[in-house]
Amino acid sequence: MIRDSYKIFSEAEIAGLKLKNRLVRSATYEAAMTKDGMITDKMLMLYKNLAEGGIGLIITGHTTVAANGKANPKQVCLFDDKFINEIKLIADIVHKAGSGCKIFAQISHAGRQVMHDNHDAEPVGPSDIPCPVLKKSPRSLSAEEIQNIIKAFSDAIVRVQKAGFDGVQIHAAHGWLISSFLSPYTNKRTDEYGGSVTKRVKILRDIVSSAKQKVGRFPIIAKINCEDHVAEGIGRDSFKELILEIEKIGLDAIEVSGGMWDCLSRSKEELGFIPVPIPEARTRISDRGKQSYFLDYVRKLDLSIPVILVGGNRNIESMERILSEGDVSFFSMSRPLIKEPDLPKRWLEGRGKETAECVSCNSCLLMVKLFYLSCMLNQSKIIQKIVKNATPMTWKLIFK
Ligand SMILES: Cc1cc2nc3c(=O)[nH]c(=O)nc-3n(C[C@H](O)[C@H](O)[C@H](O)COP(=O)(O)O)c2cc1C
Ligand code: SF4
Repeated sequence: MIRDSYKIFSEAEIAGLKLKNRLVRSATYEAAMTKDGMITDKMLMLYKNLAEGGIGLIITGHTTVAANGKANPKQVCLFDDKFINEIKLIADIVHKAGSGCKIFAQISHAGRQVMHDNHDAEPVGPSDIPCPVLKKSPRSLSAEEIQNIIKAFSDAIVRVQKAGFDGVQIHAAHGWLISSFLSPYTNKRTDEYGGSVTKRVKILRDIVSSAKQKVGRFPIIAKINCEDHVAEGIGRDSFKELILEIEKIGLDAIEVSGGMWDCLSRSKEELGFIPVPIPEARTRISDRGKQSYFLDYVRKLDLSIPVILVGGNRNIESMERILSEGDVSFFSMSRPLIKEPDLPKRWLEGRGKETAECVSCNSCLLMVKLFYLSCMLNQSKIIQKIVKNATPMTWKLIFK
């Protein structure tokens, strides 16, 4: 059944930027740049395939705004003007695909989530709260360092605009630096950047206002947690207060996600889902009732800016129904588009199943660690065998 009359395939806007449909590629780390931040053909092919596959908006994998804030070795870098020409090639290949697809860059800083094999970044945070999973103690940032980080974010936004992107997403979710300021679990500061919800949001507010002065009318959105899944973190009760504060700071849309590395030290019973890396990407969600797992948090928010829902969006009919209920403006997906970059086109043309082919096994995380971003099911039999035979110990060693 062709779905061209579905609302999900109708045009919509973010800050006046016209998007051809309500389907977004959620930020997904590609592991496809060189270690010194130069572009590769793999990276360009990945974005070309996505642009040709029918998605309305692509958000790149997390890029780093600071040389010492790199979360992953083969990330896009944005801490120097020399990277503008590299990332311009990504924006160009998407626009040249001729499908009307738009692209935002996601900008981030690792903060306190620095893995054992990451020698590029020093773990830092609003406070020196250690992560029980990563076992590295962060250093608390000084007031001067916070100002430098705000500048690094706003300078990165200028570079993204100069490179021809259509907008930018500030990564303020999943426990990375900005997320750790928003969360009362990791932010114990007593200065102007900690304490009340207004003070915890201040770093994000300062980035947005500083960037807006430099880039003018350029879409700036953020990805935030509705649930940290840790005691004292953002949760059902505190999320509403947080989002109402964030709504006031001049962002053009909010993508709602959840989880941070710390929650992996909790049990399945405590969490309500199996604690696998990465916590925002839940496994065993073939049952429709387990999909779109942050939906309840965004019900009846009545925000003045669009809400993008991420996490377990797998079924086009369910998404169309949720859209008609009015709480969500856009749906974003990560894993389904790793398996099927042309999934939006397939759904629009009514080919195949109404559910994405991705089985939410998270083996693509191993692919990213060992090779570059790809679906394990799309690989040769030999690689499938290596990944399928990865023991729990392999996972532990890789993600400790
Ligand atoms: C391999 C992989 C890499 C990811 N990289 C990022 C990232 O760079 N930034 C981000 O905000 N989320 C990242 N995520 C999380 C996704 O954007 C998304 O929030 C999560 O996977 C849930 O959506 P899904 O069910 O559609 O996969 C990543 C997920 C996967 C599987
Ligand atoms: S490896 Fe493939 S099937 Fe498994 S979660 Fe990743 S994209 Fe989906």
